[in-house]
Amino acid sequence: MGRFDGRVAIITGAARGIGFGVAERFAEEGASVAVVDLDESAAAEAASRLPGAKHIGVGANVAKAEDVEAAVKRTVEELGGLHILMNNAGITRDNLLFKMTEEDWDLVMGVHLKGAFLMSKAAQAVFVPQKYGKIVNVSSVSALGNRGQANYSAAKMGVQGFTRTLAIELGPYGVNVNAIAPGFIATEMTDATAARVGMSVEDFRAAAAQANPVRRTGEPADIAAAAAFLAADESSYITGQTLYVDGGVTLG
Ligand code: NAI
Repeated sequence: MGRFDGRVAIITGAARGIGFGVAERFAEEGASVAVVDLDESAAAEAASRLPGAKHIGVGANVAKAEDVEAAVKRTVEELGGLHILMNNAGITRDNLLFKMTEEDWDLVMGVHLKGAFLMSKAAQAVFVPQKYGKIVNVSSVSALGNRGQANYSAAKMGVQGFTRTLAIELGPYGVNVNAIAPGFIATEMTDATAARVGMSVEDFRAAAAQANPVRRTGEPADIAAAAAFLAADESSYITGQTLYVDGGVTLG
């Protein structure tokens, strides 16, 4: 018996990184997963590597309403329902404020905030009538402020306000809405940041490990464990919260 037997989950940005780690964990625990990502073939390939039940890969840009509508419709039709949504898709376009372009501001807001809004709106149309649903959003420690990330930081703190508001609106309909704020997680996103600041991946990860009390970097599995808890019924009295999964880096 898995915690997610008979459940269907959409995880956005799940072709790699944190999203794929969460997809693996949900699948191991019995869920059917729709891997939603920009490129349909990458999404399908990732879905084919998941264990257990039936899974699908869906190509969609979460910032586009028509893509989102189609992704949710296809998931419900092909996997037989929808119970869990994880808004994980994300991008960075880092720059100091005076160099940040309007395009990079809009792109980051579009994926993180508009994407989470569109996906959640489409999912609640399924969740509310069935009086059951779990939404897990992905914030970041950068929500608390990070040099060079005015766009990303604003979006990730926005995710926390969005989470609290959806929790208030949807709680009476059996829908829990929470967020996870990861610290440094070793993925292609952080590897790209290393390249941008001119450090090797090894040195960048080692520096990140030294910056927190547990003295290691996080793995997608660390976020997957928290996501599984928040998406499971045992946490149904928890809503509107942001759980920092960061090795204690925000403790000061
Ligand atoms: P990643 O770059 O490895 O994976 C992100 C995935 O999202 C990619 O597969 C990408 O194609 C997909 N994606 C991007 N834009 C999309 C769109 N418009 N529609 C659909 N899919 C889209 O990144 P990672 O590290 O796995 O990050 C996942 C989430 O965790 C993001 O929201 C990120 O901001 C957040 N996060 C990551 C941290 C880290 O240290 N890696 C720390 C804190 C938060």
